[in-house]
Amino acid sequence: MRMYDIIMNKRNGGVLSDEEIAFFIDGYTNGHIPDYQASALLMAIWFNGMNEHETAVLTDCMARSGDMVDLSAIPGIKVDKHSTGGVGDKTTLVIAPIVAACGVPVAKMSGRGLGHTGGTIDKLESIPGFRVSVEREQFFQIVRDAGLSVIGQTGNIAPADKKLYALRDVTATVDSLPLIASSIMSKKLAAGSNAIVLDVKTGSGAFMKTLDDSIGLAQAMVSIGERNGRRTIALITDMDLPLGHAIGNSLEVAESVATLKGHGPADLTEVCLQLAANMLYLADKGTLDECRRLAGDALSSGAALEKLRAMVIAQGGDVSVIDDTSKFPQAPVTYEVKSPSDGYITHMETEKCGIASVALGAGRESKEDDIDMSAGVVLVKKTGDKVTRGETIARLYTAKQSALPEAERLLLDAITFSDKQPAPEKLILARVSKDSVERF
Ligand code: URA
Repeated sequence: MRMYDIIMNKRNGGVLSDEEIAFFIDGYTNGHIPDYQASALLMAIWFNGMNEHETAVLTDCMARSGDMVDLSAIPGIKVDKHSTGGVGDKTTLVIAPIVAACGVPVAKMSGRGLGHTGGTIDKLESIPGFRVSVEREQFFQIVRDAGLSVIGQTGNIAPADKKLYALRDVTATVDSLPLIASSIMSKKLAAGSNAIVLDVKTGSGAFMKTLDDSIGLAQAMVSIGERNGRRTIALITDMDLPLGHAIGNSLEVAESVATLKGHGPADLTEVCLQLAANMLYLADKGTLDECRRLAGDALSSGAALEKLRAMVIAQGGDVSVIDDTSKFPQAPVTYEVKSPSDGYITHMETEKCGIASVALGAGRESKEDDIDMSAGVVLVKKTGDKVTRGETIARLYTAKQSALPEAERLLLDAITFSDKQPAPEKLILARVSKDSVERF
């Protein structure tokens, strides 16, 4: 087999055989196929796409290019959750404890922040002492004992994706549906769960800005999961405004704890309950309505909060900050952003809100940057809220006084004001399963 012929086949709009896809992924991962030939094939895929079967095979080969985690040492159906990334997206910190409290084990590997979006692992590290790097046997033991564990990626997960993603990044081939879907799902398949719930964000803070594009990505990922023997459901959720009020690591943990205590923001609580219900549904805990009730009970009874405490203790974290979130180390500088006019907030450019938080120190501007765990933004007002001139619309937290003007400018630029109250936004816009797309 020759890479030249594989490139020509796809360039001419052909369908790649399973053997051709395996040849490409094996050869590229072990260094036998050079970057220039891989780039040519990626560009041919960008122009001509891949059908569902090709995409599923590509994903399987990418997953198998490294470790395939075997979770069979943990009894029960294991359900993973993946978010395509957003601003203020702290759902894992709420959902994992809810699902565990309903008797479904959660053995989850999460990522760090990327660009304007935060990452669960950075958030967990804001809990003093919390270990995100745990040996595999101990990870399994924590799940068996506490019911849940969330750790950083360990081992050699989907190395083909790592190499291909770096190449796509510099060859203008990131935004190809089969390449995005296979990249995300290769890591999910390798992580070993039996079923997967995908939270595909849509809107100004998301990778996919329109509902139709988000549904297309969700369908591609659901098809990959199902064709590879994992039951998969996707919810399309709103990222046209940040989720909850807090953006920034310890600020988001505090908001998650408030949610588990029953007094979190309504949008965050609702999205978490819906995602958790779908995870319980895939774990065969009942109908979707029954699962929604189970999730609600786990929250209102305090059982989910107990699960978060158990995980924090098991992973060496200081549980006193969970019991009293005012004990988190506090940012030395706080600043209030005031509304420049009277009226309603009609839109928030969510990506800019994320960038403001990064500027304050809550994210990395380059790979080597350290994160300031107490930095970030709390949005006091959000889309739909009425404001008066001079009223506080956001609070900024930082150790970098010099970053305040830039963060304030970004936030004010991000917000649109108007005399007219906007129609409320839907939180969950669609549910995609292998059989249907339900739009809400
Ligand atoms: N996230 C990924 O992991 N891969 C992509 O291609 C895009 C987003």
